[in-house]
Amino acid sequence: MTKPGSDMHGRVADKVAIVTGAGRGIGRAALDRLAAEGANVVGIDINQDDLDRAQADLDAAGLAAAMYCGDATEESHAARLVEFANERFGPVDILVNNIGTTRAGRIWEMAVDDWDYIIRTNLRSAFLCTRAVAPQMIARRSGRIVNLSSGAVTARRGRRTTPGTPPMRRPRQASKASPATWRSNYPNSTSQ
Ligand SMILES: NC(=O)c1ccc[n+]([C@@H]2O[C@H](COP(=O)([O-])OP(=O)(O)OC[C@H]3O[C@@H](n4cnc5c(N)ncnc54)[C@H](O)[C@@H]3O)[C@@H](O)[C@H]2O)c1
Repeated sequence: MTKPGSDMHGRVADKVAIVTGAGRGIGRAALDRLAAEGANVVGIDINQDDLDRAQADLDAAGLAAAMYCGDATEESHAARLVEFANERFGPVDILVNNIGTTRAGRIWEMAVDDWDYIIRTNLRSAFLCTRAVAPQMIARRSGRIVNLSSGAVTARRGRRTTPGTPPMRRPRQASKASPATWRSNYPNSTSQ
């Protein structure tokens, strides 16, 4: 695990941060970075081996971390994840909705099951984790929710993205649009 120099100016020190899809890739990098910056991190993933590796690396670095193995598209796991974070470290300050997937192929060639899998993975996980964590952020009038999206959503008209991206783009556009919608439901909240 690399330990980057701090440029968060202590803003996440001692905060409690959940990262979804923390076993590998961008989620793992976010987990490591938040931990290195002093946050108490909780990672969720469906891959136990990857979580074990993350836990071992963070333990070896002397950083505060706890892993929850489960499917974030399942209501019970999303709810239990937040309880787990509360039990281990206290109220959640930061949620990183990182889980995302796609399937290769153009939209007119795509199986409905593949579409449903993408929507479920990309949107349902973010919805359930946000729903589970939002009440305590609202009660404390403090919290940050980060939703990962795709550069495909910002592609300008007339510029082609990779052929076959529509299956990725539509769900990610929806997730990109969601924070404003969610925030407007809680006008007194400082959550982002
Ligand atoms: N990698 C890229 O080039 C890229 C580009 C644009 C956007 N993104 C976005 O960044 C995010 C992360 O991408 P990545 O490439 O690191 O992904 P990845 O596939 O490498 O990792 C995703 C992680 O999420 C876990 N996961 C998947 N479904 C899960 C579920 N239901 N419950 C719990 N864990 C689950 C996987 O086990 C895996 O560890 C995604 O939202 C993706 O859309 C990535």
